[in-house]
Formats: sequence, C-alpha cells, structure tokens
Amino acid sequence: MKILGISGSTRADSFNSALIRMVAANLPEHNVEVETNLAALPFYNADIEAREIPDAVENLRQLTAESDMVVIATPEYNGTTPGVLMNAVEWLSRPHRSSALAMKPTLVISASPTPGGGGRSAAHLRSVLERIGADVSPAEFAVPRAYGALNPETAEYRETSQRLDTLLRTVAAQSPALAG
Ligand SMILES: Cc1cc2nc3c(=O)[nH]c(=O)nc-3n(C[C@H](O)[C@H](O)[C@H](O)COP(=O)(O)O)c2cc1C
Repeated sequence: MKILGISGSTRADSFNSALIRMVAANLPEHNVEVETNLAALPFYNADIEAREIPDAVENLRQLTAESDMVVIATPEYNGTTPGVLMNAVEWLSRPHRSSALAMKPTLVISASPTPGGGGRSAAHLRSVLERIGADVSPAEFAVPRAYGALNPETAEYRETSQRLDTLLRTVAAQSPALAG
C-alpha cells in the first residue's frame, strides 16, 4: 500500500521529521513516501491558484491522491498547528469539493520537547482535516519529551518505536486500505 508521511516541520533536526521517518521504518511492507520540505510550497494565494498551480503544490496533491493513507506528524507552535503545515493543508483543501484529502484515511501524530507532546496542535489539525472531508483517525499519538523519546541512543526511543508500531498495526487493522 502507498502511504504519504508528511512532517509539519522544515527544521533540519526536526523531531516530527524523525517521527515520520520512524513511521516509514515501522512499515517496511508498505511503500511510504516521506515529505519533509513543505517550505517548497508558496503561501496559498487564490491569484497564484488561478494563474497556474505551482509544481510543488501539484506534486504534493498528486502524492496525496495516489496514497492509500496519509500520516501527518505535527509540531505545536503557540498551542496550535504551525503555519507552514496549515499552508500545505490549505493548498490540499483546494479545489473546493475535490480536495485530494477528501475521504482520505488520515492519521495525525505529534512530537514536542514539552510534556504535552504537541497534542493540542494535533487536535486542532484533526478538526481542520475533518472539515475538509478527510477520513481522520480518532487515534491519538503524542510524543512528549522528544529529546529523549526520539534519540536513538535511549531506552525511551525503543519504547516510542514500540508504541508507534502498536498504533500503526491498530490503525492498519481498522483500515481496509492498509489491511490488504
Ligand atoms: C514559535 C514557537 C512556539 C512554540 N510553541 C509551543 C507550544 O505551544 N507547545 C509545545 O509543546 N512546544 C512549542 N514550541 C516548541 C516546539 O515544540 C519545538 O521547537 C519543536 O522542536 C518543534 O518541532 P520540530 O522539532 O519537529 O521542529 C514552540 C516553538 C516555537 C518556535
């Protein structure tokens, strides 16, 4: 099955990019494409959209449309979802009524150095994705204290990976697209 993993961070040493790579590593039997460069997308602007869809947008829309499932790892900024990720979601929400995300099985996960693990951002993002019509998994998966939890040298890392593996198997078992 094809899975698109999106990191909502463009930072080189991003915890959320590390988390989305962990998703790919835990699903070797699936074809997981990892997207960590949302900065390549221009800010959404209806004038740009009317003129010509930029290649980076077209590429992300196509990857989304071709995927059986989308997994998004989101950071949390000021208690919500970072702008760079919301910009991508805005592009993906268009064209109105024919979004590549409509009815797309979608899982939102998060990571943060704080004890909250980015859970508020994930909840806000789930709500936006539901409005677009994505088939959003209610499963919650936040990685708090990410300095330890996503550092491969630590015992917490192995625990995070096992916890993620359990989540992915559970979601896969509930998703016809992944179960096959
Ligand atoms: C502008 C800004 C606001 C932030 N606000 C929050 C926040 O509300 N909650 C939180 O858990 N972390 C917050 N952080 C810390 C981020 O979780 C941290 O920078 C994290 O490493 C970002 O994710 P990344 O590693 O994937 O880039 C904030 C960071 C920045 C730069």
